[in-house]
Amino acid sequence: MVFIKFEGGVDGKYKVLDLFAGAGGLSLGFSQTGRFETVMAVEINENAAKTYTQNHKIKVNTQDIRSIDFSDYKKFPKLRDVSVIIGGPPCQGFSNANRQKSELFSNNNLLVKEFIRAIKEVQPNSFVMENVKTISSDKHKFFVTNGELEEIASIGIQIKEEDLFIGNSEFLNEQLMNLYNGKKISCSFANTNLIAKLKSLVRYANKHKSVKGFIDKNSSFFNRYIPNWNQHFNTYEYEELRDLISNFKLVLESNTNNEDCSSTLLAQAKQIIEIHNITLIFKEIVEKKLNVQLHLLRRIKEFLLRVIPLPLSIIY
Ligand SMILES: C[S@@+](CC[C@H](N)C(=O)[O-])C[C@H]1O[C@@H](n2cnc3c(N)ncnc32)[C@H](O)[C@@H]1O
Repeated sequence: MVFIKFEGGVDGKYKVLDLFAGAGGLSLGFSQTGRFETVMAVEINENAAKTYTQNHKIKVNTQDIRSIDFSDYKKFPKLRDVSVIIGGPPCQGFSNANRQKSELFSNNNLLVKEFIRAIKEVQPNSFVMENVKTISSDKHKFFVTNGELEEIASIGIQIKEEDLFIGNSEFLNEQLMNLYNGKKISCSFANTNLIAKLKSLVRYANKHKSVKGFIDKNSSFFNRYIPNWNQHFNTYEYEELRDLISNFKLVLESNTNNEDCSSTLLAQAKQIIEIHNITLIFKEIVEKKLNVQLHLLRRIKEFLLRVIPLPLSIIY
């Protein structure tokens, strides 16, 4: 730990703000030195906050950190005396397991940025951010959001461009590009219950080499959706998407027990799932205001959709 000499409060103790305070382990370590006193703690989980209060006898602020304005000294007068900020932003955002989940860009990385925001607003003499060892590895990155580039350059942080594969739609590439560029993504392509069922269908077909048994077993599920089939999809007014889902419904209803029918259903189910996944990523990019460029890559006979995030190297 780097130790910087600075003045303590009237009682000689340095005042601490603990962010993502959990049950108070970090605060405990600081207070055990006899030289630090935590005056404000932020922890969103009510149970963790209760445990913190048991351990440290201060009331914890249980608001989401994203909604707290740390420069509001009227509301938080104790922040005036804070000389150290400590905290452990959640670290799942840096683990490899997280990349398998539906979100391509983890929310948790954004919480590290909240820690940085608090430092800028409170201007303490010093800070300590605890995190997993791998935070400094190349695998883990922050993604630049819109409007951040200037500030990043002013701090002198290096950014790297990187390609990230986001999907492979065998058709509709140009339309999906237009959809993304037009920022028309307010909701995803399909109803999530239907998508979950189609994923089971694909798993079943991979195992049994046919979808027939699956359709029979799930007929009551599909029958519930068929009467208002189109309403369960957001086709963004693209004819090709409308055709895809209408054809899927027709084959589903035909109930024909032959191999062609089975392979058509399987191929179309895969397309619907893939397009749904791509639109979820578009949504995520738009909602999180990520600074990315999207481009198509011609590889053999297919187009691939790829995205360029601008990862931030980490200050440590
Ligand atoms: C790694 S733990 C911190 C452990 C803590 N430093 C200690 O020593 O016990 C991260 C904590 O951040 C909290 N957290 C996650 N998101 C939050 C948010 N948006 N606002 C405030 N706290 C949050 C979690 O509930 C969790 O308890």
